[in-house]
Amino acid sequence: MVNYKDLGLVNTREMFAKAIKGGYAIPAFNFNNMEQLQAIVKAAAETKSPVILQVSKGARNYANGTLLRYLAEGAVAYAKELGWEKPQIVLHLDHGDSFETCKSCIDSGFSSVMIDGSALPYEENIALTKKVVDYAHQFDVTVEAELGVLAGVEDEVASEESHYTKPEEVIDFSTRTGCDSLAISIGTSHGAYKFKPEQCTRDPKTGRLVPPPLAFDVLDAVMEKLPGFPIVLHGSSSVPQEYVDMINQYGGKLPDAVGIPEEQLRKAAKSAVCKINIDSDSRLAFTAAVRKVLAEKPAEFDPRKYCGPARDLMEELYKHKIINVLGSDGKA
Ligand code: G3H
Ligand code: 13P
Ligand code: ZN
Repeated sequence: MVNYKDLGLVNTREMFAKAIKGGYAIPAFNFNNMEQLQAIVKAAAETKSPVILQVSKGARNYANGTLLRYLAEGAVAYAKELGWEKPQIVLHLDHGDSFETCKSCIDSGFSSVMIDGSALPYEENIALTKKVVDYAHQFDVTVEAELGVLAGVEDEVASEESHYTKPEEVIDFSTRTGCDSLAISIGTSHGAYKFKPEQCTRDPKTGRLVPPPLAFDVLDAVMEKLPGFPIVLHGSSSVPQEYVDMINQYGGKLPDAVGIPEEQLRKAAKSAVCKINIDSDSRLAFTAAVRKVLAEKPAEFDPRKYCGPARDLMEELYKHKIINVLGSDGKA
């Protein structure tokens, strides 16, 4: 049993309270490898931003859960080496799918876990979430839950029942589970294809897809029911066109990739949304940089020569998100 406090990590409680009060959001960046982690820690340390390091089930399968946990422990030491005296770093399980996975993360030093029961019937989601909360809180580990299913606008229109979070459920859900934060569905979704072209309009000047707006009315209704309660947005990559263009220019194929416009995330960050999840943008930056080096220097075979530029581009991306979108710089 390892407690996260012994690793120099923090949970999300105070971080979220400050973020809601201050009108900014904490970046939750997924990582799967050392380069991503280096870029995240450098960006956070240099901007003095609190940060959430997220590990998905896929990341644990890819990189090994134990190794990732030690990397996160290293992240605290690295942050201090970079001159960040009191790093505000959370190690978080992203989309935990069972009590056992959450327990195993809590027992090995995670300071925060998500139990994602959003696909379960309402009462089962409550029962599973409560079980995780009861275990986690014994160790002062914070718990994110999810209500509503992440889906695009088309599913919204096509399905008989709304996939958006139902504001009328949030008081009952948060009270009965005791969760510390709630991920809600207001039109974001995972990946680099968040909307189908037919759901978007096209900018006549650039020919680029312009996605439909998020359901801020649902967010407002949730905030009215749960004043001051920490809200989380998943699927919040913006899918920067410059990276998509770079990937396509250097042999990739990502037609009509589209994300959430940054001005909408800026607006969300000023509200009770205090955690914004970003993974795909980092994948795009990494891939764009690697493709560029390999296309321009076909004789290159030292991974450091293409992973290095990929790391630099991800660091630039993370700093941009922190400073220009979430507003979390200088808050740690
Ligand atoms: O929510 C999904 C995250 O982007 C993690 O993705 O399961 O492929 O690691 P993954
Ligand atoms: P993106 O795919 O939009 O980056 O979302 C990531 C996420 O929600 C991780 O849980
Ligand atoms: Zn997610």
